[in-house]
Amino acid sequence: MGKIAPSILSADFSRLGEQIREVESAGADYIHIDVMDGHFVPNITIGPMIVEAAHSVTELPLDVHLMISDPDPFVDDFARAGANILTVHAETLNHVHRTIQHIRDKGVRPSLALNPATPLDVLDYILDDLDMVMLMTVNPGFEAQKFIPEVIPKIERLREEIDRRGLDADIEVDGGINPDIIGRVAKAGATVFVAGSAIFYSEDYEETIRLMRERIKDPE
Ligand code: DX5
Ligand code: ZN
Repeated sequence: MGKIAPSILSADFSRLGEQIREVESAGADYIHIDVMDGHFVPNITIGPMIVEAAHSVTELPLDVHLMISDPDPFVDDFARAGANILTVHAETLNHVHRTIQHIRDKGVRPSLALNPATPLDVLDYILDDLDMVMLMTVNPGFEAQKFIPEVIPKIERLREEIDRRGLDADIEVDGGINPDIIGRVAKAGATVFVAGSAIFYSEDYEETIRLMRERIKDPE
């Protein structure tokens, strides 16, 4: 069954703890935390201190997405802060295998993210070592952007490859996911669904998450 990961980038930061508890009781599976450095992506957000704060208010696994040019020196900090999943971008790494092993050695589940235009073949020799692959469905940097439909066949191809190898790695999709699109990406083979604006800007978080689950199970 799919997992729903509300992205706190769309939360009200002046009452972040409350917002995290609200999506937790509305049925979220993970809390997605977007870390941006103003260099790899044109926006600056938050760091390990906020991850630590989030960790203190929720039981849910923290799904930490590093959109930073040089993630290696920060892996230990995010592990210590309480990250359960750490996603690094293939576009930022010179030594993908080393970074992935480093994350695993810290007791954190490693995940590799690919921007929309990054080809799947960067996964050829690392896929077996990953707990999750994140396929960006927008260009990273901001919430509330439009879903890029060209990623759908990419999700399908990755699903085929994961199944062909007999792996159980998740495929996470991130960017522009809402109740209207989620059925299509689930059908294509995604298993973890990040949603920022679609959840936090909705009237009723519980109802939005419920609707998303319904569409994952039964895509129209
Ligand atoms: C984009 C971030 C996403 C984003 C999701 O760079 O990685 O997690 O905040 O927000 P929505 O769901 O509004 O596109
Ligand atoms: Zn993200």
